[in-house]
Amino acid sequence: MLEFYGLFPIVVSLILLKLCHSLYRWRSPKCKGRLPPGSMGFPIIGKTLEFMTPYDFNSVVSPYLKKRISRYGSKVFRTSLFGAKVIISTDHEVNMAMAKSSTQLGATESLRRLFGENSDFLQRKEIHKYVRNLTSRFVGPENLKTRLIQDIDVLSRNYFEMDDKAISSSFDIKEAATKMVVDLIVKKVIGEMESEAVKELGLCWTAFRTNWFSFSYNVPGTTVYRFVKARRKVTKLLKGLIQEKNTSKEGLGDFLEILFDEMKKDSAALDIDKAVNLIFTFFILSQETTPGILAATVKLVADHPNVMEELKREHEAVVENRGDNQTGLTWEEYKSMTFTHMVIKETLRFTSAQPTVHRIPTEDTQVGGYTVPAGWLFFGIPLVHFDEVKYEDPLKFNPWRWKGKDLHGTLSKDYIPFGAGATLCVGSEFAKCIIAVFLHHLSRFRWSLDPKTRVLRRYMLMFPAGCKVEIAKELSDQS
Ligand code: HEM
Repeated sequence: MLEFYGLFPIVVSLILLKLCHSLYRWRSPKCKGRLPPGSMGFPIIGKTLEFMTPYDFNSVVSPYLKKRISRYGSKVFRTSLFGAKVIISTDHEVNMAMAKSSTQLGATESLRRLFGENSDFLQRKEIHKYVRNLTSRFVGPENLKTRLIQDIDVLSRNYFEMDDKAISSSFDIKEAATKMVVDLIVKKVIGEMESEAVKELGLCWTAFRTNWFSFSYNVPGTTVYRFVKARRKVTKLLKGLIQEKNTSKEGLGDFLEILFDEMKKDSAALDIDKAVNLIFTFFILSQETTPGILAATVKLVADHPNVMEELKREHEAVVENRGDNQTGLTWEEYKSMTFTHMVIKETLRFTSAQPTVHRIPTEDTQVGGYTVPAGWLFFGIPLVHFDEVKYEDPLKFNPWRWKGKDLHGTLSKDYIPFGAGATLCVGSEFAKCIIAVFLHHLSRFRWSLDPKTRVLRRYMLMFPAGCKVEIAKELSDQS
């Protein structure tokens, strides 16, 4: 006993020494090259809480970023977020260099758990290229033009239909777009489904709608625990549905047709589990990104009456030129909506003050005079969108700045809302089409936005009081 008490201070000292050493190692990480300046904070928590503090939409650049850029005098710095070591860059040259040199999509541990560790989008080269191609065949311009645009039109039109007695209607635009995207994907990705299964799937998705970016610990009560549980449930449901359809080959959605075709050609490259994971990824990505950007577009339009009037003029003209009021929206009409595309392009510029280039290099990478160590996350933030040299009066929402410029490209020298390089967004055209079609229907009415609507920037856009539009029945004369 005496011996134990004698050893006790030594044991405690050794533990403290070890802890201090680990803390020192954490704060001063080893690197073969030159790490950017920065501070790692405490292990696990790092600087996550500060990084994730919501801030006002119109402030554009987060206080977190402003503080660090001014403190370090560098647009590239190191930090720790969500338990991972991270390099953040707001330097456009560095972001583009990383986007080109590294092909490995960087995801936080919580996102890996959300998408599934085996998600093919998070794997290397060949399989990544393969799933990209498959997804592009479904959401790319060709399929959008020949098939998807009509469905997007019919489904979004439903929200604007009122019965004869109604003088107005109101709905939350983000909620409506989310529901529309789920309905669309169920119909076009999977195909005919029992209404019970559709309802169950719809309910499952609600689990994924908060806190994508959180700590990664899979313990009861945490977001990640809920994600993992909900993912297992959705995966099981989807797998059952897909197996049934694979046997019956009846009522297949376009995307399932493509997937079954591929399975027949090469069952090693694509099996049922991979197909389920692909459909799951597709659901999650389309559901969470596009409705938020649509809601932000509506808020920006509501705050700029001149933009609202111009949109109204454009969409009334589309309907007027159509002649036959019963015809749905066509691809040519969609392409002709010049001002609408200017509004969408400007919204994407204005909303993207969060990372759009996520990488996790597999080997140490030298960029901008610094080293991004292998295995660290790299987050590239496109502050180039708010650079006064590139954009006149950049903090102003001004769709007219795009007049006469390329409106359909998703990537240009100083514009990267959909990322860049090997992981450039595959759903960009699909997303823009959904937003344009919603704007088309909305702009043909007199509408207003609930004055309580507020937008906050975090990693993703937040609407703490919803985003409710009130639509008056008074329509343009032609419809
Ligand atoms: C306005 C809405 C959207 C925005 C702002 C957006 C943004 C982005 C960004 C910035 C990236 C690049 C990530 C990186 O390289 O680090 C990306 C990738 C991706 N997006 Fe989107 N996205 C949107 C809509 C969609 C939709 C509707 C889909 C559904 C198909 C989708 C599917 C994907 C996929 C699969 C990737 C990964 C591509 C790859 O790894 O090759 N996105 N998106």
